[in-house]
Amino acid sequence: MADVRRILNEKQKIIMRRRRQSQIRRMRVRSLLLFFILMLPLILTSGVKASQKPERIMIQVQEAYMYEGDEIPEFSVKVDYTGDKNKVIDNETKATLESLVVELENGNGYELISDVDGNVEGDYPIYIHMGQKWKKDLLYKWLGNVFIYPKEAVIHVKNSYGEWQGDKFINPEGKQVVNEFIQIREKTYYLDRDGKVTKGRMKIGLKTYVFDQEGVLVDQQVGIDKDKKMIAITLDDGPGQYTNQLLDVLEENNSHATFFLLGMNLGSKYEKELKRMVALGCELGNHTTNHARLTELSGSEVEEEINTTNQTVQNLVEEIPTVMRPPYGATDEFVGEHVGLPMVLWSMDTLDWKVKDAKRVADYMMSNVQDGDIVLLHDIHQTSVQALEIAIPKLLDEGYQLVTVSELANARNVKLKNGEKYSSFRP
Ligand code: NI
Repeated sequence: MADVRRILNEKQKIIMRRRRQSQIRRMRVRSLLLFFILMLPLILTSGVKASQKPERIMIQVQEAYMYEGDEIPEFSVKVDYTGDKNKVIDNETKATLESLVVELENGNGYELISDVDGNVEGDYPIYIHMGQKWKKDLLYKWLGNVFIYPKEAVIHVKNSYGEWQGDKFINPEGKQVVNEFIQIREKTYYLDRDGKVTKGRMKIGLKTYVFDQEGVLVDQQVGIDKDKKMIAITLDDGPGQYTNQLLDVLEENNSHATFFLLGMNLGSKYEKELKRMVALGCELGNHTTNHARLTELSGSEVEEEINTTNQTVQNLVEEIPTVMRPPYGATDEFVGEHVGLPMVLWSMDTLDWKVKDAKRVADYMMSNVQDGDIVLLHDIHQTSVQALEIAIPKLLDEGYQLVTVSELANARNVKLKNGEKYSSFRP
């Protein structure tokens, strides 16, 4: 069986090689033919009118550049000539050398053709196709009067991620790429903090990436390591205009968070954000509909505060919040009997809403965080999102996994119960 497969593979290779050879040959034949046609006036006249030299026009295709995925640029030529510009080339139309040059400069008489694939990096030839009329005129009417030299060029389709310069990969802005994924000919690589191609396994947040010996990404797995440090970042009172920016940070760092959504903020406006939360593996929590102090409400009012938001979330993403957080942390046994969800408080209050200083909030988190913490922030403030932009990569560097409240409970073998209060899962 293996032999048969090998034989088939060999056959395929031969066919491929033949195909490529025949393409090359066809190209050569085509160039030779063009060369011959254009040279013909010179060949035919060289003996007869040796004294009368034909004028010369050089038509040079300009090299072109583009990035993968961009629009293919228009090709252009540069036209030059030697000889007497006023010499009449066409006795019938009285076209002079100069007027022919102008025509060529205006793109008349020929076409520029390339089978460039703008989505695949590489160099592709650009051919000059003289039009039928010009070919004929060159052969019959302008014989011995003018000679056209064509010079073809290539279009370079460049990788949009950048290119290697020595052992450095440089992006189009001229900066060395570090800590980033790049794609080269549809293969994915990761450049580490020194800009070197990563091989073997690498963990970013909750994801482990596997690369082969050439550094090509071959596998990725999401997994929580129960024996490692972890915290649950939670965000109250959203969604808001900065929520998407926070989702970017979470996505880049393969991290999860729990969003305690405020029913009155929802509606179709934030449908995209909610769907993205679910897609990224984040947890949806309920923060009541009107930010109500639940301890001051009747049982049925508590239920309505929770159920209305549950329903809105379900309408948007077909999922129901799995946890809730009472506004102001105000809760008691009575409230617990009516909320119908696990009640999640916090062990670290960043006071982000009051401090409103990204660096200070991030610093506070970094110096006070403990394994198993539930951290409270608000994604309706830009400074809070910026604080997480600073803190999340640092937390990962320190070995923390950023998980949802339910993932944290599960990793610490706690089964969440409706109506129960939880404020941390420290070991
Ligand atoms: Ni709140």
